[in-house]
Order: sequence, then structure tokens, then C-alpha cells
Amino acid sequence: MELRSVRGTHDILGKDIVKYNIIKKIVSNYANLRSFSEIQTPIFEFSNLFLKPLGEQSDVVLKEMYTFEDRNKELLTLRPEYTTPMIRSAITNNLFEDLPIKLFGIGPMFRRERPQKGRYRQFNQINFEVFGSDDYLADLELITLANDILKSVLPNSKFNLKINTLGKRKNLIEYKAKLSKYFDDNKNKLSNESREKIKSNPLRILDSKNNEDIELSKNSPSIIDFIDNEDKVHFEELKKGLRLNSINFEENFRLVRGLDYYCKTVFEFKTDNLGSQDTLIGGGRYDGLIAKLGGPDIPGLGWAAGIERILLLMEDIDTKNNKIHLAITNENLKNHLIKLINFLNLNNLPFYWNYKYNLKKSLAKANSKKVSNVIIIGEDEHKNDFYTVKKLSTGQQIKVNLDDIKETLND
Ligand code: HAM
Repeated sequence: MELRSVRGTHDILGKDIVKYNIIKKIVSNYANLRSFSEIQTPIFEFSNLFLKPLGEQSDVVLKEMYTFEDRNKELLTLRPEYTTPMIRSAITNNLFEDLPIKLFGIGPMFRRERPQKGRYRQFNQINFEVFGSDDYLADLELITLANDILKSVLPNSKFNLKINTLGKRKNLIEYKAKLSKYFDDNKNKLSNESREKIKSNPLRILDSKNNEDIELSKNSPSIIDFIDNEDKVHFEELKKGLRLNSINFEENFRLVRGLDYYCKTVFEFKTDNLGSQDTLIGGGRYDGLIAKLGGPDIPGLGWAAGIERILLLMEDIDTKNNKIHLAITNENLKNHLIKLINFLNLNNLPFYWNYKYNLKKSLAKANSKKVSNVIIIGEDEHKNDFYTVKKLSTGQQIKVNLDDIKETLND
């Protein structure tokens, strides 16, 4: 059998894992500064957790979930997103006593989509959620956080923030009905794929990439005519806040999101440099979802970023190689080497040792890795109990006792 990884999955290694860990560090740092607590939930949950909240007619539920029957006949699903598992966790761990709750998590999600650049079947998300506030300042805090994190991990990339409001759920339901009617009246102008969504999911027709659909959507009813005054004010205040924070944005009344649970504010950070998989971050409010899952009737909001998409845009990091290479001339000097390695370990000094006893090859390797220091052990070093530190930049060789090694390395 040919050995290969599963379609749509990928290994993260080499420079990418260095970048991945840098992203994680930056995210944790921001989370800490802004008082979001980290949470990790299991990779799989009961399938029911996802079916209704994400939308039984959403692409994710219809086509993309990895669902399997456990031996005891329970249906389990590999999590396709993090919001619902986080809510489940807040409910089952009784976190709702002290509101608001601010959580973040990083980890793999699973969707059986058609793989392409920036779209995978296993991918990693950064996820931030706030439970228990309907203040527009919570929306502002989350969007600002997303903006700050993107700027920090992608200082040289341009991205655009698009925002919209979907209003309350009841308004959204009215809007969906109007939209369905409009598309139904014009169904001969729609693509086949969109025609199937007229009844089940008309909002998704608005973000179809098909030209005919785009043309028809231009004159479709607009959500803004269905928003009540309270939600309009919320949206206006949010926009003012974004301006105060100097965050550029574009209003887009046709911005809808792929998952069903959204209402009121929705937003996306997009880039021009990734082709069709151009959304780096997506999120919004989901008032009502926490109650639907069995928690208190409190509002919620959040966002998720795709780490792989960020990695595609992130520039290579110039990592300095600060490892000390060890070079030993022959196997009889092992005791002298053990002493050295013990010393390096006790002092937390980073080193590389390849279990080989060949001075020339070890020096060549150190040169190719552009390290600064090599410690050489030869017959003389062993006999007279010292070590030779070779500085590769100058070629200078310094004879030292163990106790003086640290100082010499730092010179
Ligand atoms: P989403 O828009 O489905 O939202 O995904 C968020 C982000 O995850 C996308 O913008 C993208 O960067 C990344 N992403 C999604 N699917 C893939 C894929 N197949 N391959 C690579 N990256 C992908 C959510 O998941 C919501 N739970 C976000 C949210 C949190 N809303 C409120 N709170």
C-alpha cells in the first residue's frame, strides 16, 4: 500500500511549525493582556451539539461533518468549529455564575470540504468568545483584538474588514422569507446550485461566487430594511468605536455567514492575496444560541481565525541558530564528552550532538548551520582536562575549563 496522508490533511513542520508556535505565543499573549482564559475541549462531541445550531441546511451540516457511530450506537462528530463546543463546556462546567465569560482556544477543526489552497479537511483555528454581554463595546473589543492580532502576525500584509448587521433573529427570519420570494420569482436567472438554496438557505445565495447570482443579488431586498431601531443604534455605535480605534472597515449589507447561529453584528477580515479562500477571520453575534444549547438566555459573540491561511501569508522568520555544536575526534573520548553534556544540560545551554566521531564532518555541519560556537574534544583536551571553543565567525580557538565555558560562549 502506498503510504500517504489523508486528502485535505497536512503535516506542519520545519519553518511552518516555528511560525505556528509564534502565532500561538502572540495569541496567548494578547489573550492574557485582555483577560481571556484558555480552554481546550475534546476533538469530538455528540453530533447533536452541531446539527441544529450550525443549521441543518448549512453546508457544514449537510456535507462536511465527519460523523461516525460509536460502538454503543451514539453518533459522534469531529468538531467542525469551536463556538458550540465552548458553549457546551461553559454549560457543563457551570461557568455562568460570573458574567461575562471570556474564553479563547486554539486547535484543530474538521470539515470535509473540497481541498484547495487555504482550504483543508483538518485545519487549525484560533477562537475567541464572550458570553453574557450585549454591549456594543464587546463587539468592539473582539474586532479590535482580531485586528491587533492580525497586524501583529502579518505586519506586512493588507487585509480588509467587512461588517454587517443581521438584526434580531425574528427580523432575520422575516428577511429570509422576503429573500426566498425574490429569488423564487427570479429563479430562471439563478445558478443551479443557488436554486437549491432558495427555500432552505437563501442567505447563502448572497455570497455565491457565480456571476449570474451576483448580478441578481444586487437588486435583492436588503437586510438593512428589516433591522429595528435598537439594532441600528448598536451597529452605529460599533462603527463609531471602530473609527475611534482607527480601524478601517467596509459596510457590506450582503455579508452573511455560513453558519446559522448568527444575528446582529457579523464581520470578516479578508485578504487579496489568497485567491478564493480569502477570509482570514470570521465571526459575529449569536444571541439565543447559548439558551438553545441548554444554558442561560444570555447573548454571545466571537470569532475564529484560520491558522493555515495566516501561515500562507506569513513571511519566513529569520531564526538565529544559537545551538552550540559538539565535535569529537574519536570514540575513546566519551567520558570527557559526557562531562561536557552534563554541564551544558545543567546550565540550560542549547546544543547539538549527532553521535558521530568525526571532527571534519562535525565542523562542516556546524558551518552549514551557521552556528557561532563549536566545542571541540580531541586527545589533548581529554588528557589535560580542558575544552576548545571554536568561534566560527573568526576561526579563533580558545582553550577553557568547564567552569569558564559559559563566559567564553557569550563573548
Ligand atoms: P468560519 O467562518 O466557518 O467561522 O471559520 C472561521 C475561519 O476558519 C475562516 O475564516 C477560515 O480562516 C478558517 N477556515 C474555515 N474553514 C476552513 C478550512 N476548511 N480550511 C482552512 N481554514 C478554514 C466559524 O468557524 C465560527 N465558529 C467563528 C465564530 C466564532 N463565530 C463566532 N464565534
